[in-house]
Amino acid sequence: MRLEGKVCAITGAASGIGRATALRFAAEGAAVGLLDVDEEGSAETAGMAESAGGKVFVSSCDVTDEASVVASLSGVVERFGKLDVVHANAGIELFAPLTMTGVEEWDEVFAVNVKGVFLTIRAALEHLMDGGGSVIATASIAGLAGAQFQPAYGASKAAVVNLVKNVALDYAASGVRANAIAPGIADTPLLEKVFGARPEGEMREFMEGIHPDGRMAVAEDVANAALWLASDESSHVNGTVLVVDGGLAAGPQFPLEKLLG
Ligand SMILES: NC(=O)c1ccc[n+]([C@@H]2O[C@H](COP(=O)([O-])OP(=O)(O)OC[C@H]3O[C@@H](n4cnc5c(N)ncnc54)[C@H](O)[C@@H]3O)[C@@H](O)[C@H]2O)c1
Repeated sequence: MRLEGKVCAITGAASGIGRATALRFAAEGAAVGLLDVDEEGSAETAGMAESAGGKVFVSSCDVTDEASVVASLSGVVERFGKLDVVHANAGIELFAPLTMTGVEEWDEVFAVNVKGVFLTIRAALEHLMDGGGSVIATASIAGLAGAQFQPAYGASKAAVVNLVKNVALDYAASGVRANAIAPGIADTPLLEKVFGARPEGEMREFMEGIHPDGRMAVAEDVANAALWLASDESSHVNGTVLVVDGGLAAGPQFPLEKLLG
């Protein structure tokens, strides 16, 4: 088991990538702290992990609220005795060009995606600095280059990438590593929130078709990347961004059949 004996806290664990990560970590022997505002979703994740034999602690947590984050991470440490890995994963999307982005919407995206990651990592470092550990943040390919209709979201994820690199530099001497994962398009409930429904039919075909490898990500693709960054297999990997996008952001794609005739 790749995470035997490790204690991992995951924000956004009630759904999508956070849930898949929690289940993957638990299956690899970790004790997992599930942190999310969605208590019902967290309870479901907990049930799934426990029925597979996982050790689980659930804490209602709003990542935008300092006291809530500090209390939840302390709760994980009280329950399991230490913290080895934090996955600052909770995040929200906003699909709107800049002129259609309200100030409140901008603030909400930055509150969850940037302040939330800052508060989560800062509170976790208090525990991780005792014995070293791994910090993982979920960014996005939208934070590595422009992404149409996502100025607030993309800017927030660019901030996450930079934040992680700073943590990597400042806490390496304490044995802490910090890395980001940049998913492309992952088929999770987040897409429902963006498009009003899970992509089906022509929409799904289009979204699969823009990927060089012909498919969107599933949450487990991202969870597998998180597993590697959480494990000692990546012990010399610090300050990097692991892109999990099937090649979507590797470079521009041209309709060669049209160009070459
Ligand atoms: N799905 C994608 O295509 C995609 C692509 C790139 C990056 N991401 C990022 O991956 C992460 C996970 O997204 P997902 O696709 O699993 O989405 P999701 O909507 O399925 O899950 C997000 C989780 O975050 C939780 N959350 C939201 N606000 C919170 C808050 N204030 N405090 C605590 N928890 C909160 C939600 O309750 C939910 O359980 C996000 O950071 C997202 O930006 C997703």
